[in-house]
Amino acid sequence: MSPSTVSIHRLGAEDLNVLDRVDDNVFDHPVQRELAACYLRDSNKLLLVAMRDGVVIGMASAIACVHPDKALQLFINEVGVAGRWQGQGIGKKLLQGLLQRGRMMGCIEARATAEEDNLAVRALCDAARGLQQLGHAIVYTWPLSDRSFDDD
Ligand SMILES: CC(C)(COP(=O)(O)OP(=O)(O)OC[C@H]1O[C@@H](n2cnc3c(N)ncnc32)[C@H](O)[C@@H]1OP(=O)(O)O)[C@@H](O)C(=O)NCCC(=O)NCCS
Repeated sequence: MSPSTVSIHRLGAEDLNVLDRVDDNVFDHPVQRELAACYLRDSNKLLLVAMRDGVVIGMASAIACVHPDKALQLFINEVGVAGRWQGQGIGKKLLQGLLQRGRMMGCIEARATAEEDNLAVRALCDAARGLQQLGHAIVYTWPLSDRSFDDD
């Protein structure tokens, strides 16, 4: 593949139709139009896509968030590249694109969480010169449809 055949774009609210043609396994699940529209309307959210021949072959998403005691930070959500296009520098371009746009939005820091055993995403973050925080972060999740953790 020639790198020139792949282009990176930030999607805005007017670009919803771009997500009609997405290669397999770019997102974890099929894109839902109403969710995508909601996401793209929010100017604090970033969605970058890698395109080839009109098809989305990779994506990276992030949210810029201000906190009462912290200036704007960029929280990187997900990076995904279709299997057949992996290992060709596309993930790195997408991640670097998020970092650049985060800086342009005024973010002072970007953060990403990588599962310990996901060597590909760790290699990607290393390649983009992310600084590893010492200590092990543990990710907790709560399925909010389950009320078993409500107050007793
Ligand atoms: C993680 C992922 C996005 C990387 O995308 P990619 O386009 O294949 O990555 P790149 O080709 O840009 O590679 C970036 C760096 O990571 C390294 N790398 C990529 N995949 C690797 C792997 N499986 N093992 C080791 N290193 C790997 C590359 O060698 C490169 O390093 P370099 O610049 O020093 O040579 C892709 O593997 C993917 O979509 N995985 C499934 C989804 C996922 O787990 N996403 C992360 C959680 S949201």
